[in-house]
Amino acid sequence: MSDHFSKDIAEAPDTPFDISLRPPAFSEFEGQDKVRQQLLVMVEAAKQRGDVLEHVLLSGPPGLGKTTLAHILATAMSVGIKCTSGPTIEKAGDLAGLLTTLERGDILFIDEIHALSRVIEEYLYPAMEDYKLDIIIDQGPNARSVRLNLPKFTLIAATTRSGMITAPLRSRFGMTCRLDYYTAEELQKIVLRSAALIGVETDGAGALEIAGRSRGTPRVANNLLRWVRDYAQVRADNRITRDVADAALTMRDIDRDGLDEMDKRLLEALVQKFGGGPVGISSLAVSIGEDAGTLEDVNEPYLIMQGYLKRTPQGRVAMPAAYKKLGLTTPRADGELPL
Ligand SMILES: Nc1ncnc2c1ncn2[C@@H]1O[C@H](COP(=O)(O)OP(=O)(O)OP(=O)(O)O)[C@@H](O)[C@H]1O
Ligand SMILES: [Mg+2]
Repeated sequence: MSDHFSKDIAEAPDTPFDISLRPPAFSEFEGQDKVRQQLLVMVEAAKQRGDVLEHVLLSGPPGLGKTTLAHILATAMSVGIKCTSGPTIEKAGDLAGLLTTLERGDILFIDEIHALSRVIEEYLYPAMEDYKLDIIIDQGPNARSVRLNLPKFTLIAATTRSGMITAPLRSRFGMTCRLDYYTAEELQKIVLRSAALIGVETDGAGALEIAGRSRGTPRVANNLLRWVRDYAQVRADNRITRDVADAALTMRDIDRDGLDEMDKRLLEALVQKFGGGPVGISSLAVSIGEDAGTLEDVNEPYLIMQGYLKRTPQGRVAMPAAYKKLGLTTPRADGELPL
């Protein structure tokens, strides 16, 4: 078993399995009602006017459906989509190469836009606003600036770190959507849909058991389903029930609340090594041998949402739920936490 299960399952690149389970249209996209409604209105309005979709920024933890929504938007608008990611655009020429191949209305999808270099970001501003790109060609005395006129396009950007997006960049998006964790009921529907697509018989209780242990995340739910399917095939004549799902997930050390080994190690270190905090994320990361960025992006948001820990300006602080999870009593009877 991997110690980094939550990281592996939340950050693993999309496999053909993910792609085949990816809902192709809004009608099959479960949950995120507010965001879905907003995007539907935008699409409808742009289509009625024969206009190009505004630039959209999608933010939220890994595996909640940002890439999926970008593809759904392209399909809904009947336009092409080119996908790239922040760290791979190194030079202005890379950006020019991408933008000049777009046709009017096409979507440029930039994943991990927070990792875009500042220089490239500056090039992006006029491209987003005026559909122009000024690039310098040649070097030394021959260097000159050339203005490229771009077709009117839509930038869809995704980020797991919305706090790292600069204000000038953020302000250039017509729409900013924040995706939230899914409820167990929404994930149950996603699991049932995926189970039907991969052809494994699953009852409602089995799907709900997987859903409740999926950290509010469709990608995790699909990956757990894949594991439970394997387990059911070998140990339980191909049918997923609540008991089968429970046995399979317990075997992977995924507890009833969806916490895995790394989450528990993080809470243990916070409570036992650092007296409940406050402690900085880098000290916490070193003490459990994990990368601070992964803890911040993958483990923490869910632990915070579930009320196990809190981010304060002084550092991370354990909440009563963390003590309870570890079978300990909270240090102060009145529930007040030492700060
Ligand atoms: N609302 C949804 N309904 C059904 N399935 C979904 C939904 N959202 C996501 N999924 C499933 O979860 C998987 C992960 O979604 P996606 O790749 O869009 O996440 P992401 O937000 O782009 O993650 P990352 O930040 O890691 O790039 C998809 O392959 C898809 O099958
Ligand atoms: Mg993605």
